[in-house]
Amino acid sequence: MSIGTIGVLTSGGDAPGMNACVRAVVRTALYKGIKVKAIMKGYQGLISGDIIDIDNRRFVSEIINRGGTILHTARCLAMTTPEGALLAADAVKKAGIDCLVVIGGDGSYRGALELSKAGVNVLCIPGTIDLDIASTEYTIGFDTAITTAMDAINKLRDTSTSHDRVSVVEVMGRRAGYIALWAGIAGGADVILMPEKPEDNNIDKICDVVNKNKDIGKTHSLIVVAEGVGSVEEIAKQVQERTGIEARATILGHLQRGGYPTALDRVHASMMGGIAVEIANENRFSRAICYKNGRYIDIDLEEAINMTKTIDKTMYDISKMLV
Ligand code: F6P
Repeated sequence: MSIGTIGVLTSGGDAPGMNACVRAVVRTALYKGIKVKAIMKGYQGLISGDIIDIDNRRFVSEIINRGGTILHTARCLAMTTPEGALLAADAVKKAGIDCLVVIGGDGSYRGALELSKAGVNVLCIPGTIDLDIASTEYTIGFDTAITTAMDAINKLRDTSTSHDRVSVVEVMGRRAGYIALWAGIAGGADVILMPEKPEDNNIDKICDVVNKNKDIGKTHSLIVVAEGVGSVEEIAKQVQERTGIEARATILGHLQRGGYPTALDRVHASMMGGIAVEIANENRFSRAICYKNGRYIDIDLEEAINMTKTIDKTMYDISKMLV
């Protein structure tokens, strides 16, 4: 027997492409004759019963191109407690939702696992700009975020070249350096600092690169720093003091989370949303949708959460040779 009602929510930090994913869940479900309920403001809205019936595919019209999430999102502290998870599970049952599709990052996956332990059918789709979900090679929002970061780095390159300065730019990623690594490579950074590689966060090593640049006649340098590494203001101050070259710090911040999603984000989001509905329709639950080796697959949610991700060695090594 196929499911009657599917629920969908976005949770954690928003990511460009979440709307395309919501659209895909809604439209694929309606196409298959499954009822849809949208939960507003993530798990927070679930607990407080902020749930909308969607019986019209037009509900998700004109959003494929929009950043953010029309369902709104939140980081829900209550979901980290057993009591909160039980409240949320009750809300799912009360709303008559047979399967809840959660679009979000690592914290949202953990919330979904608690729900599944409380008897809720859940499916998870990776939606985070951080690319830090180990079970998948792609997370919705990453391509848009690195493209935004790269654009900003390009602009900083213009001004730092003109002024013969060092630009120290902070990109997002409290615990993960993927945005820094990819945007750094794409933007031609001289130094890339990531939380996963604390040994690189060494002011002598950084100044060494800046000084070597100066020695070969390159009077500007670009240092890309992931948020979780430390203060870009402090790095800029130290570099200026030690090398005698003016340095400026820039924090890109939340602008990396906004903007219209790239084609890659829209397509991955559409595919993963549609696939989630197909999996629900096969009565398979507690699954994490993943993109691996060029294919969409699904794996057990708990297994997905327990996997760990490390920075690709080849990519890291090559990034060092590109300076
Ligand atoms: O997880 C996505 C992310 O943008 C991280 O890169 C960043 O560290 C964090 O969210 C910021 O969270 P908030 O918007 O809650 O400040």
